[in-house]
Amino acid sequence: MSLSGAVSRRNKQSTKSDSPRPTLLLAWYDRHRRRLPWRAAPGETSDPYRVWLSEIMLQQTTVKAVGPYFEKFVVRWPDVTALGRASQDDVLRMWAGLGYYSRARNLYACAVAVTRERGGVFPDTEEGLRALPGIGPYTAAAIAAIAFDRRTMPVDGNIERVVSRLFAVEDELPQAKPLIQQLAATLLADTRAGDSAQALMDLGASICTPKKPACSLCPLNEDCTARAQGSQETFPRKAPKKSGTLRRGAAFVITRGDELLVRSRPEKGLLGGMTEVPGSDWLAGQEDATAKQQAPELKGLSRWQRKVGVVTHVFTHFPLELVVYTAKAEARTRAPPGMRWAPIATLADEALPNVMRKVIAHAMDLSSGPSS
Ligand code: ADE
Repeated sequence: MSLSGAVSRRNKQSTKSDSPRPTLLLAWYDRHRRRLPWRAAPGETSDPYRVWLSEIMLQQTTVKAVGPYFEKFVVRWPDVTALGRASQDDVLRMWAGLGYYSRARNLYACAVAVTRERGGVFPDTEEGLRALPGIGPYTAAAIAAIAFDRRTMPVDGNIERVVSRLFAVEDELPQAKPLIQQLAATLLADTRAGDSAQALMDLGASICTPKKPACSLCPLNEDCTARAQGSQETFPRKAPKKSGTLRRGAAFVITRGDELLVRSRPEKGLLGGMTEVPGSDWLAGQEDATAKQQAPELKGLSRWQRKVGVVTHVFTHFPLELVVYTAKAEARTRAPPGMRWAPIATLADEALPNVMRKVIAHAMDLSSGPSS
């Protein structure tokens, strides 16, 4: 559906440049904006470092989950040059638990590039930003608008929902993205592009929520097409989601006194560079016996104990089910090549992804039930 098609079917005035929507939206934002740690206070200038850091962290992660990580990062690395001079291991460790770890590697690569090649100054255009590691079209638009007031509209999930309802976009996501992008751009005020974008993000987060939107409080309620139809919750239209095929594997939790046997995952690929306990391949339809055969071989190891239940974890492209085996190694047992003994007391300092935290908790009976 073209922009003019979507609009002419429903509301001929809706993209007129004198539309009151951008003004209504900004007036609402000025009263109801969320206080977020990376946001400049009214009248203050945005710090591009804080905006960039928050946007990378917010990719596929909620505002609530990001908050404490953002605070930890800016205390430890107050500007991009401090982060660019850190070690990747320290950055990964600080990121551990936030998920999607390629973001942390790209974050670091970007900080190094901005520090070494640009004297610590971020580019102030979408094009310049997109040339940096980890910055795709959405993030470039978000940083350009919020940090540099470039007149561009980043469209995230919240904005997709608001716009698809406002204009009753019948096309399904993801095909509807270009149309939603065009319609979203009509909500940009002539100035304060960053605030227009953040106003829509906040509206989506607090009022135009997926379920039971609080339409009576919405500044745009009078010309929302979905509201007029009473069909708000049915937008955005989405093609049914294909969930990936379940993969199965085994994890081997081996302790030597108060130490745990760990290794680092390969730099490239899923959870690249993160710490894990040794494990089997993760394969669709893998039998438990096949996975168990991939246990590491150590001299002086007790019998394997299989923990009751499984650990489950859902990655973006597939769900995973792990059987957990535990064993104890004698004092002075050597770690096999590529593995090391890590003190259990300092595991919090390791770059342990969530799936491994679940495995270790399950092995040590710290989880709440057999399937965590
Ligand atoms: N989600 C992504 N970017 C955001 C931002 N700047 N403010 C609030 N939520 C966001």
